[in-house]
Amino acid sequence: MPFRPAVLGLFLLFLSASATLQARQMQAQTLPRQAAIASANAYATDAGLEVLSRGGNAFDAAVAVSATLGLVEPESSGLGGGGLMLLHLADGDREVFIDARERAPLAATRDMYLDENGQVRPKSSVDGPLAAAIPGLPEGLAHLSGRYGKVPLSVSLEPAIRLAREGWVMNAKTAQVLPWRSEVLFRSPGARALFSRNGKPVEAGQVLKNPDYARTLERLAREGRDGFYAGRMARRLVDGVRRAGGIWTLEDLAQYRVIEREPLRFTHRGFRLVTAPPPSSGGVALAEMLNILSGYDYPTLRPAVRIHLVVEAMRRAYRDRAQFLGDPDFVDVPLARMMSPDFAAGLRASIHPHRATPSRLLPPVGPAQERPDTTHFSIVDTEGNLIAVTQTVNLTFGNAFVVPGTGFVLNNEMDDFSAAPGVPNAFGLIGDKANEIAPGKRPLSSMTPTFLSDGERTAAIGTPGGSRIITMVLLGLMDLMDGGSAQAAADRPRYHHQYLPDEIQIEPGALAGDVVAELESMGHAVKESDSTWGNMQVVLWNRRSGEVEAGSDGRWKSVGKGAVGAPAAIYR
Ligand code: DON
Repeated sequence: MPFRPAVLGLFLLFLSASATLQARQMQAQTLPRQAAIASANAYATDAGLEVLSRGGNAFDAAVAVSATLGLVEPESSGLGGGGLMLLHLADGDREVFIDARERAPLAATRDMYLDENGQVRPKSSVDGPLAAAIPGLPEGLAHLSGRYGKVPLSVSLEPAIRLAREGWVMNAKTAQVLPWRSEVLFRSPGARALFSRNGKPVEAGQVLKNPDYARTLERLAREGRDGFYAGRMARRLVDGVRRAGGIWTLEDLAQYRVIEREPLRFTHRGFRLVTAPPPSSGGVALAEMLNILSGYDYPTLRPAVRIHLVVEAMRRAYRDRAQFLGDPDFVDVPLARMMSPDFAAGLRASIHPHRATPSRLLPPVGPAQERPDTTHFSIVDTEGNLIAVTQTVNLTFGNAFVVPGTGFVLNNEMDDFSAAPGVPNAFGLIGDKANEIAPGKRPLSSMTPTFLSDGERTAAIGTPGGSRIITMVLLGLMDLMDGGSAQAAADRPRYHHQYLPDEIQIEPGALAGDVVAELESMGHAVKESDSTWGNMQVVLWNRRSGEVEAGSDGRWKSVGKGAVGAPAAIYR
């Protein structure tokens, strides 16, 4: 049967678009002339640069950055938590995703946070040992180093071990958030020893040491994963958690394994995106939002109309997140449907060009809150390897509990599960069956480490920020696709919609008054936050020139650091 002209036209358009993409990607590339690292803390960036100078690649540097962040930024991430890592291997030109997400203890049950009336017991999934899932980051680091690194763990962990012994200066960010959690933290003798001085929270400018953390890392360097998940360390962790009312067992630690998963891949406006698959919701939501937006020539639209369409895409993606997403080893996630351009076309058809769709006309969530925890870093090395890692203990200082002698807080990632259908978690996110608690299951995450490439510019991007992570990454990607620099993408003002509450949230001063007025006239409620969001870290490699950039979020300028390292030749 002959093609009808419209179908033929579409087909030709498709062929020419993919030919352009391919042609761009086949251009000869110039390896990065320097390495670049962007992280939320200068000690961590420097630790990464040091390991590169000792012959490590981007993945060894990532181990150094990650372990150092766990020490100097303990409110955000660490050995008691987990992380999601996206790697681009220059060797074989392929991508790998390492899921080092925490998993629920084997004794966890669906209703473990409910009282006898079926109500969620306040704080039970947030404070103390019952809130902690089994950590994934220690095995994540051992796996990353062993499979993809060039130097042993003893080298890549060395800067963090040294810093833990010799001391570091407490930064303004940790000092600012410590008092929020000090009451709960100081109930735990292990945490009190780490974070108080004379009974008061430690302050910015004071020099801190953490020899227990040094010993924990040394054991990991010496024995690999078993140095954490078996033997003395495992017994210490399980005893400490159980004595304080938790439910961990030795079996939980022995069974924990990181999982390598296929990253999600899709294209948009001639760019190739590689991003986090479930148990992250980030990649699926990014694909859904960008697929919806691909039906509009949005870069040319005036700000209020463009923001309206982006917000309508966000609303729909977050609704689907609540309904469909959970650990893919436990529930069937309808990935093919959610990533399909046809599915997006159906959602697009429900968007009015100039009117907000009330969220109550779609299916239910609560208020989102930002907490300055979780952390992201991005690295590119001179071989052309890239890595984007988002790692976390969930809320500020995780569950605020330290097993004495270990040197790190445990996570409260159990709060990322849906404790009961439709009951919002700390980020106002709801869920249902797909993300209910089950033994050994991984809680749904929003962490979205992502690569973007058009064959000429390749970026690694990510940020903390709870439920807003996904929309922050979306806006950062849109800036990069418009040709923006790594720094500009990290600094851009942000807006967010997560289906419920039905409002556009904006950072202080993020949108001009006339844009807000126009959005309100379309039926949107616009709510300005009283603080900024996120802490984005971006690196960019221009494959044509070999130039690299590092952009570290200007919101925490005095603490984070984006650095471009000296040429590899000097190091070797
Ligand atoms: O995995 C997640 O989605 C959350 N545990 C991340 C928490 C977070 O980003 C807190 N930061 N502001």
